[in-house]
Amino acid sequence: MRKKLVVGNWKMHGNRSANAALLAGLKEAGPWNADVAVCVPFPYIAETALALTGQAIAFGAQDCSAQEQGAFTGEVSSAMLADLGCRYVIVGHSERRAYHHESDQLVADKAKAALAHGVTPIVCVGETLAEREAGQTELVVKRQLAAVIHTLTHCIGEIVLAYEPVWAIGTGLTASPEQAQAVHAVLRKQLQAATQKADAMRILYGGSVKPDNAAQLFACADIDGGLIGGAALKAADFSVICRAAS
Ligand code: PGA
Repeated sequence: MRKKLVVGNWKMHGNRSANAALLAGLKEAGPWNADVAVCVPFPYIAETALALTGQAIAFGAQDCSAQEQGAFTGEVSSAMLADLGCRYVIVGHSERRAYHHESDQLVADKAKAALAHGVTPIVCVGETLAEREAGQTELVVKRQLAAVIHTLTHCIGEIVLAYEPVWAIGTGLTASPEQAQAVHAVLRKQLQAATQKADAMRILYGGSVKPDNAAQLFACADIDGGLIGGAALKAADFSVICRAAS
């Protein structure tokens, strides 16, 4: 039985006082019978770590460099994330693939860098609306995952995978449980061909997960939790989603 994982992706939202209130609300609402984490903007990681001391809520970042260290202005290494105590780092989010032109290979290299420092990469894959309408959903997500499998080889079992259809992110258009489960099953099968650990790996769904649709999604056989954007910014909403995963 896989324990569910719910991860809040704060994206570029928040400030010190709003974050403190959000984290206080989560502390009050928890604990849950699921693994829970928040992935916060870089400048707030240290303060989040402090606020969550002694709590069952993990924390992480939303990106990392594929490089180890050096002259890469503006980049943040996975060694730095590990130094701050991050458990997770999101890599390959569709917003980074789209706005920063991150390739499948770069995403795979970032995942490798994170693992090298003991930070679990949450690797995002997902198709655009045009790709879905062209019947390319499977092709796209399998291509994105294949780059990661090829790069990580025997370590692939250490990642968390997240299926996030681009057309469902921040749009209020959630994939139906059937649509999501179908893609999760494809991804699980691809992982099974690569590692004996596939059945223990967590595949999260992300894209307009809300308090009122979380339970249905999490009830699907291959959906092991969620990557939550908008609804992670309100303690009350996020805690309902965490409870749905419990
Ligand atoms: P959303 O974002 O829940 O606001 O759709 C999810 C994500 O981008 O991870």
